[in-house]
Amino acid sequence: MRRKLIAGNWKMNLGLNESGVLTRKILGKVNPGLLKKTDILICPPFVSLALVSGIIKDSGIKLGAQNLHYEKDGAYTGEISASMLKSAGCEYVIVGHSERRKYFHETNNLVNKKVLQALSNDLKVIVCVGETLQEREDDIFESIITEQTEVALKDIPSEKMIDIVIAYEPVWAIGTGLNAAPEQVSHIHALIGNTAEDIFDKNAADNLRILYGGSVNKDNAKEILSACGVDGALIGGASLKPDDFIFIAEQASDIN
Ligand code: 13P
Repeated sequence: MRRKLIAGNWKMNLGLNESGVLTRKILGKVNPGLLKKTDILICPPFVSLALVSGIIKDSGIKLGAQNLHYEKDGAYTGEISASMLKSAGCEYVIVGHSERRKYFHETNNLVNKKVLQALSNDLKVIVCVGETLQEREDDIFESIITEQTEVALKDIPSEKMIDIVIAYEPVWAIGTGLNAAPEQVSHIHALIGNTAEDIFDKNAADNLRILYGGSVNKDNAKEILSACGVDGALIGGASLKPDDFIFIAEQASDIN
């Protein structure tokens, strides 16, 4: 069985002090037994990464960023490179979140360039895929997700697939309080796994962790995390509430 991963995407919330406060609260609620069974990852805004890294040092909690630039370095004012994230203590980076696709016009090809840059700097990548409500209603969601997955994984050396996590986040479920039904989630997770197997091989697909994201909270987490093919969750709003976030991680650990 794949190890569950519970990831908190803090999005554009919390300044430096508040990030420190939340991190300490999370740390205070995590018992070592929990981390033996489940990976816990927090993804604060860029400016808080170094601070949070210092607070969680040696705790077993993992640190990730929410984005990176696809070039190694250079004249890209305001951007953040993979090596900068590494130097701030990141192990993971989220790429291709639907909010970046929507508001910053990130395409599948751009997502792929970011994935490749992150991997070449030894960052693990959470690649986000997911359909809009219109795409689901038009019944094209399977081809949308297959294409997002195929293009994101293009040119990845197969031995690097161990550093990839995919998060299925239906756009209509993000921040809306609507979550996909467990059978819808399992269906898409199987589709993503089959796509990875087609591109690489069964071994790569068997090791690929696929998370669900979209209005996961303390009340629905158990049902979602118990669904077939769900290896964890990428959590927005509820990750800002330390009690809820750790409760969700405990639910994941109980299922393991
Ligand atoms: P919510 O949990 O707030 O719906 O956000 C999900 C998400 O976008 C995580 O990346």
